[in-house]
Amino acid sequence: MRIFVTVLIISAMLFFISGFASSVKVDPIYKNLQVLPKDISKQALDSTMDAFKHALGVGCKYCHAQDKETHHIAFESDDKAEKSIARKMMIMCAGINKQYFSDSSTTIYKTVNCFTCHHGEPIPGMDTIAVRK
Ligand code: HEC
Ligand code: HEC
Repeated sequence: MRIFVTVLIISAMLFFISGFASSVKVDPIYKNLQVLPKDISKQALDSTMDAFKHALGVGCKYCHAQDKETHHIAFESDDKAEKSIARKMMIMCAGINKQYFSDSSTTIYKTVNCFTCHHGEPIPGMDTIAVRK
């Protein structure tokens, strides 16, 4: 009987621990990702944001709003229009790459990304476009 109770307690503990572990695993680091994978690693998120910064020649605050009370950047906030535009641009890039660059024979210039158009400018190349009057 005592063995049976011990086994029962141990299995209850294992059940509890495994349930706890899996709930920890699905708990995301970030609060408001709508385009990027919700379980993205910190490393991948950071390198994506650095790529945005360099492609547009801006700082983090160009897209991310400040918290009105703490004055720290509130990364999860959607208060700046630039962040919403950036989301649309991410979806546009994914669409272009899926439609035109999914062919494995294209190797070097495989991916259209933010830098492809922006080249370090927030509003890319408008001065070079000849407009027909
Ligand atoms: C060109 C605009 C842009 C720039 C510049 C930018 N970000 Fe972002 N950032 C975004 C967008 C858009 C998202 C949301 C992505 C999504 O919805 O999947 C985001 C999300 C994040 C998040 C996740 C917040 C959360 O909890 O949901 C963090 C953290 C973050 N950015 C940090 C940074 C840092 C640090 C910098 C500067 C090095 C930076 N970002 C520069 C557009 C930008
Ligand atoms: C196919 C070319 C192209 C690509 C690729 C592209 N953009 Fe853009 N983006 C533009 C153009 C053109 C504008 C200016 C649109 C306008 O003036 O209305 C712009 C505007 C923006 C703006 C608003 C700037 C402002 O101050 O009004 C943001 C933010 C932005 N892009 C972010 C991104 C990010 C982030 C990526 C990569 C995920 C990206 N873009 C990829 C062409 C591109």
